[in-house]
Amino acid sequence: MNDTLKTISERFSCRNFTDRVPENKYLEAIAQAAIQAPSGMNRQYWHVIVVKNRDLISEMDKEGIGILSHMKDISAYERIMKRGGKLFYNAPCMILIAIKEADPKGGELIDCGILAQNISLAATSLGIANLHCGFVRLAFAGDRANEFKAKLKFPDGYECGMAVLLGYTENAVLPHVPNQNKITYIE
Ligand SMILES: Cc1cc2nc3c(=O)[nH]c(=O)nc-3n(C[C@H](O)[C@H](O)[C@H](O)COP(=O)(O)O)c2cc1C
Repeated sequence: MNDTLKTISERFSCRNFTDRVPENKYLEAIAQAAIQAPSGMNRQYWHVIVVKNRDLISEMDKEGIGILSHMKDISAYERIMKRGGKLFYNAPCMILIAIKEADPKGGELIDCGILAQNISLAATSLGIANLHCGFVRLAFAGDRANEFKAKLKFPDGYECGMAVLLGYTENAVLPHVPNQNKITYIE
């Protein structure tokens, strides 16, 4: 197995972050890996926002949890509560991916996911635990959306795509076990 395959096999979703903030040199390397991602027609309808402001992360967490708690289906809220009640699991840092709608619509989401995985794998390769976080969008679903967008310096016309939480783990866990039935070979 080469280093890339090893990194892919070792990546796991971290939900128990310590307070230690990833070093700037690593965050810069990860941000560079992010914007190295391919995008449809090289449109790059994304903006990478590295957030280390813990007060802001905490405010977004509270806003997101509030919105989750008022959803008709409260199963996700209950799951988060069982996991400690924090949408961002006390991560000291996140990279938020802001995106702009593509034409045809939807392409920007594919680009966003690929960029997020670049972040996740680059972080893993540097020993930085991480979690893809779709729930970050909840923080932008209510009254404080524009306030957060302003504080995070979203470019005009951009919306929240997703985030990758970053930090160091209390204890590493194993990733999901790949389901081999999900592969078909045609010869
Ligand atoms: C697009 C995307 C969004 C996700 N959003 C969340 C999230 O908001 N909260 C969370 O705890 N996990 C989130 N996850 C993590 C998945 O639950 C996790 O990848 C899956 O359970 C497999 O576990 P593993 O990553 O450890 O292999 C997300 C994963 C992806 C790919």
